Amino acid sequence: MDITVRRAEPGDFEGLWRNFSDESAYSGTLQLPMPSRELWRKRLAEPAEGHYTFVACVGEEIAGHAGLHPGGNSPRRAHAMSVGLAVPSPWQGKGVGTRLLGTLTGFADGWLNVFRLELTVFADNERAIALYRRFGFEVEGTHRAYALRDGRFVDTLAMARLRPKGP
Ligand SMILES: CC(C)(COP(=O)(O)OP(=O)(O)OC[C@H]1O[C@@H](n2cnc3c(N)ncnc32)[C@H](O)[C@@H]1OP(=O)(O)O)[C@@H](O)C(=O)NCCC(=O)NCCS
Repeated sequence: MDITVRRAEPGDFEGLWRNFSDESAYSGTLQLPMPSRELWRKRLAEPAEGHYTFVACVGEEIAGHAGLHPGGNSPRRAHAMSVGLAVPSPWQGKGVGTRLLGTLTGFADGWLNVFRLELTVFADNERAIALYRRFGFEVEGTHRAYALRDGRFVDTLAMARLRPKGP
């Protein structure tokens, strides 16, 4: 399967909206069910400063997407960014998440001078945790009852990866 990763463009909003209509994609992240197409159109048309969104394409289809987000406004957090990743169920287990995370870590290490990449992941999301570990992310702690998921408060793990070697 030929997977291409590129930066998201405004015209990709339908693909991202469709991906987040998938139950496992919104359940595994902090998105809500029944996402608004207009919200995704706006997000991609007017991206916030310092946020980088990538899409994985298989032919014409958007098979997943990932983002790098600033770690906060303080200059003392300029070395940190957070990671988000979502692959809808028809494309899971086919290497899309691996390609996206490889792109994000390469972009952050080589081009953004990011030293610390961080994320939260639901504590029962074994596939995602295994993927993050493969890229050098380590568990730093547990956020108890961090987010509501279909009527239950669920724990998340805080994971982070420090850049393996300096420039
Ligand atoms: C978690 C998630 C990002 C992983 O992405 P993915 O595309 O399914 O992951 P990959 O296919 O790259 O790797 C996952 C598995 O497929 C295997 N795999 C990798 N490349 C493969 C390939 N070319 N063909 C078949 N399988 C492959 C990996 O070995 C891995 O196996 P394992 O889970 O049994 O260890 C994705 O499942 C997802 O978005 N889920 C819903 C939302 C979510 O949980 N997001 C994370 C929020 S923190």
